[in-house]
Amino acid sequence: MGMIRTLRSVLRLRRPEFSRSARSLRAAANVDDLRCIAQRRLPAGVFDYIDGGAEDELTLDRNVRAFRETTFKPRVLRGVGELDTSSTLLGRPLSFPLVLAPTGFTRIADPQGELAVVRAAGRAGIPFTLSTMGTRSIEECAAAAGSGARLWFQVYAWRDRKLVRTMLERAAAVGFEAICLTVDTAVLGRRERDVRRGFTLPPEIGPGTFIEAIRRPVWTLKFLRSEPIRFANVVGLDNGSRSGPATGERAVDLADYMNSQFDHGLSWDDVAWLRTVWDGPILLKGIQTVDDAVLAVSHGVEGIILSNHGGRQLDTAPAPFDLVPAVAEATAGRIEIICDGGIRRGSDIVKALSAGADATMGGRLFLYALAAAGEKGVDHVLELLRSGTERTLALVGASKISDLGPELLESR
Ligand code: GLV
Repeated sequence: MGMIRTLRSVLRLRRPEFSRSARSLRAAANVDDLRCIAQRRLPAGVFDYIDGGAEDELTLDRNVRAFRETTFKPRVLRGVGELDTSSTLLGRPLSFPLVLAPTGFTRIADPQGELAVVRAAGRAGIPFTLSTMGTRSIEECAAAAGSGARLWFQVYAWRDRKLVRTMLERAAAVGFEAICLTVDTAVLGRRERDVRRGFTLPPEIGPGTFIEAIRRPVWTLKFLRSEPIRFANVVGLDNGSRSGPATGERAVDLADYMNSQFDHGLSWDDVAWLRTVWDGPILLKGIQTVDDAVLAVSHGVEGIILSNHGGRQLDTAPAPFDLVPAVAEATAGRIEIICDGGIRRGSDIVKALSAGADATMGGRLFLYALAAAGEKGVDHVLELLRSGTERTLALVGASKISDLGPELLESR
């Protein structure tokens, strides 16, 4: 009896968690853990589309390694009793310096798709960027966002400029704050995992993928039961013309589709054109050199996103994090700098800001979480990144974002 009493006084039974996804979320300590869960839940072709990069995936790998290979020069005894991860971007508050990247076809990870991500971003106090190739519409995202949430819209240059103008009018009408023009996709990069699997969008369950569909029954049932996955922003805009853009009713090979619909002639003149059709801030996503960063300043855009499209476009392009110091120096505070690619931890966010970025951006990090556990998964990963940012501030001896600077990083 005595021993049982003693045991009871030192042991506390944890309340059992009956939901399987809640159990696995509780055990997901970082983005890599969520990636592993996503891999177990998604059909291989869907996982590879999200996870993969171009050609040898050297840039994909480099984006992550650039952070891992940089060490801090942490300061101590600096009185970090009050920690504040908040900052501002485009003149508006940000609870911690992360923006959710545009990802096409988000509903292949979970039927709620972009709506789950919009809501989680709103709760976390950070902006969400809807992709032109999104699977929830501009209006649906705005309705889900709630007041005060920050929505950005990503623009691809359709050959049919009327289509772009219409999308921007719709985004403006429902309160989107900013747009980012993707400039790294003159043609689509060659994602060889998708080539090998013959991956299409929406995914087709056919003879080749049937076994995969059976091996992932939860995903497959959800996919079959939910409304068809469509390019929600394009639906209704092709005037039914046979040569117009597909809307997802039929499966398409992404490379063929994008290469046929998008304008390879996109140039700096088009940036000036965008100004005539959009009143708010414009960011260029996919800047990869100091020279282009300086050109962006001279073209008067409000921000640049240093990005190689998550290693999905030009393989052996530089890691965005490696570009930050030189771009920050050359642009000298005249433009907002966002570092996109390879962010997996709060410490990566702190490194990017120490190097001179104003914020960071990430896509896979929330797609893994969405595939792993739906909307709760996205809440979970955003809290991991927020708390990781806060903890890292404390451990490097910084109380707030404005305390960060290059002196906290070992020069490489
Ligand atoms: C689309 O932009 C993709 O990267 O797959």
